Amino acid sequence: MKDYNEILKEIAIEIEPLRHIGRQADYIPALAKVNPDRFGMCITSTDGIVTEYGDMEERFSIQSVTKVFSLSMSLSLKGEQLWTRVSKEPSGAAFNSLIQLELDRGIPKNPFINAGAIVLADVLMSELESPLEEYLAFVRAISNDPTIDYNHEVASSEREKGYINAAIANMLKYYGNLDNDIEDVLRFYFMQCSVEMNCRQLSRAFLPFANRKSEFLFNGIHLTASQVKRINAIMQTCGFYNDAGEYSYLVGLPGKSGVGGGIGAVYPGRYAVATWSPRLNEKGNSVMGMKALELLTTYTNESIF
Ligand code: DON
Repeated sequence: MKDYNEILKEIAIEIEPLRHIGRQADYIPALAKVNPDRFGMCITSTDGIVTEYGDMEERFSIQSVTKVFSLSMSLSLKGEQLWTRVSKEPSGAAFNSLIQLELDRGIPKNPFINAGAIVLADVLMSELESPLEEYLAFVRAISNDPTIDYNHEVASSEREKGYINAAIANMLKYYGNLDNDIEDVLRFYFMQCSVEMNCRQLSRAFLPFANRKSEFLFNGIHLTASQVKRINAIMQTCGFYNDAGEYSYLVGLPGKSGVGGGIGAVYPGRYAVATWSPRLNEKGNSVMGMKALELLTTYTNESIF
């Protein structure tokens, strides 16, 4: 049995020189207020053991990590039909690329870029009776934590400056890939991104994607083992945008990042892991988080490859 406690301590020492490298996201004004010099890491094993290091109590904006939850709900509700609205190919472009959406005539490359997640928000608005309430209820259920919530200030702040996402939504509408009102879909998408968790909660929320023994059934959302495997595959190929190849090369665990500095990842059958550190590289992924995960798979010699 590996001593994850010792391994996390070693990782913390090794990544310390990176603490001031990179910049936190400030295109969402509310995120610019967060202290960027934070680092936390938490592993939750499939047999329930929690190992943690660093900033564990502070909740951060999970931002694009939320797209794993919206994909889970959309795939459960629509099945394979979902893939008529969004592809499942790595984009090789920035998470908010507009040019690619035009070239693909309104069909986003995958569900984890902004265009894809805006389509998922539209799907959920059409499928759910009370989208905001049901989305939160699912996220609370999968995290096994009723205290998880939206941050209305972050969502409003993003809407105020959300020019590119508004352009993406308009282009989706133009190509007939958005059924609901543009403003309503954007509002719902920004609320999804505003969900806050700490590292412990995020690793717990990712555990169902690592756990092959328990049924995936949370607040009425059911996924088969095969669907869970496929969500992991999309995390592996698309979870880090135009950094997905680098992340796969260095880390080798299905994962998803967000511009709030959080990363959720899984070692299927064994554990879920979350890191949080707000300073990002130029592709929008946490500098300390990516390095910490690279060292985790190096020191443990555990990865999917
Ligand atoms: O739509 C946006 O730009 C943000 N709410 C989420 C982007 C994000 O987290 C990309 N991740 N690295």
